Amino acid sequence: MTSEAKRTGSAADEAPGANRPTVLVVHGPNLNLLGEREPEVYGRTTLKDIDAALAALGRELGLTVETFQSNSEGAIVDRIQAARGRIDALIINPAAYTHTSVAIRDVILAIGTPCIEVHLSNVYRREPMRHHSTIADIAVGRIMGFGADSYLVALRAARNLIGAARGGA
Ligand code: DQA
Repeated sequence: MTSEAKRTGSAADEAPGANRPTVLVVHGPNLNLLGEREPEVYGRTTLKDIDAALAALGRELGLTVETFQSNSEGAIVDRIQAARGRIDALIINPAAYTHTSVAIRDVILAIGTPCIEVHLSNVYRREPMRHHSTIADIAVGRIMGFGADSYLVALRAARNLIGAARGGA
């Protein structure tokens, strides 16, 4: 599937020249196992369900939503680099890389796009190793602890950020 095919706002959804804002949502390692992985921590919602809910909310909010998951730090860096200059906001759950990755921090700084950090669980209710995030201080904000809803809250926040940046309400 091409990256174009993964865009949820199809050409048919868009008025010509609509200049529809684009949000990239990145899911880090092991999030492909959502629904089966530690459901007592992460819930029973699958990644496919989350991406479908993001697509539906994106249509409602007038956003094109692109989603990407990888277990590989390099692939995540490559995907964010590829979005440089062509997205309006980045939503990222770096999963375990949250706690270790300087490379993901650096690529977020490099593209200069407003970033929202998301977690399904409230990391502060968990082991101390999860309390540190390499991107906390460069994110516009962080949303955690609401399970799959964390992503939907983040998409609404992204819409408002983009609106403010474009001079809207
Ligand atoms: C997570 C929290 C991380 O500590 C963990 O490594 C994950 C998921 C969350 O969404 O709650 O994989 O980012």
